[in-house]
Amino acid sequence: MFDIKNKTIVITGGSGLIGSAFSASCAEFGANVVIIDINEEKGNKLLEDIKQKTKNDNVVFVKCDITSEKDVENMIELTLDRFKRIDALVNSAYPKNKNYGRKFEDVSYEDFCQNINMHLGGYFLISQKISKVMIKQNCGNIINIASIYGFTAPKFEIYKDTEKTMPVEYSAIKSGIINFTRYLASYLGRYNIRVNAISPGGVFDNQEENFVRNYCQKVVLGKRMAESSDLTGVLIFLISQASKYITGQNIIVDGGFTL
Ligand SMILES: NC(=O)c1ccc[n+]([C@@H]2O[C@H](COP(=O)([O-])OP(=O)(O)OC[C@H]3O[C@@H](n4cnc5c(N)ncnc54)[C@H](O)[C@@H]3O)[C@@H](O)[C@H]2O)c1
Repeated sequence: MFDIKNKTIVITGGSGLIGSAFSASCAEFGANVVIIDINEEKGNKLLEDIKQKTKNDNVVFVKCDITSEKDVENMIELTLDRFKRIDALVNSAYPKNKNYGRKFEDVSYEDFCQNINMHLGGYFLISQKISKVMIKQNCGNIINIASIYGFTAPKFEIYKDTEKTMPVEYSAIKSGIINFTRYLASYLGRYNIRVNAISPGGVFDNQEENFVRNYCQKVVLGKRMAESSDLTGVLIFLISQASKYITGQNIIVDGGFTL
């Protein structure tokens, strides 16, 4: 029921913090994995690691910017040449411009628009292009990585005494991605394409101590931040037949942070 063997899965941001765990576990379960990312060095290194650990030769890395129509089209062509079909698209890229991360007062109109175009727009672009392949197959599966900040307001007190904030663009982008998921699920359902979102809580990545302490206090399960491996089970569930009657949903994986 949870079998994903021989399915062809394209993972955007596939060499990132969360994407690399997704790429590795899909490869471990025998899928054909197309890791796509703009970071070629990280991508090639991850590819070697995964091949060595899983002995799965049907894993490739393709340098591809999800905001470039040409890159996305080339990547689809390469994927179809090699694997003939695309069973699932996992949107886990995190595009941002150089000014991303500023406090609300300091975000310029241009930066706001650019970050939304890159992230939400990138998810739109690759989903539209790949759904054309899935429509022809009359079968497909899209999984968007959203966030707890797509459906709740940030708790700004957790950023107290830290350099960090939760950027305003992120709320707009991630809430957009959650309803974009529902739109696509409704629109593409007639072609047997399912579309769901996963909303993770904060994933541990050696963030500042104050931030980690403040964050963990609000987590119900284990008073800890998420690990990427906390998210892979839900991904496998959504890609597999175990979830064949589920579409348009947003599955929250946050250890109870937003309860
Ligand atoms: N890390 C968290 O705590 C957390 C929590 C909730 C949701 N998320 C979401 O999970 C997803 C992955 O986040 P992450 O923490 O792994 O981020 P990350 O920065 O570690 O990885 C993102 C990857 O996307 C790649 N990328 C950036 N722009 C790209 C583009 N235009 N085209 C292709 N690839 C591009 C980067 O090179 C990077 O490897 C994002 O959507 C993020 O918003 C993350």
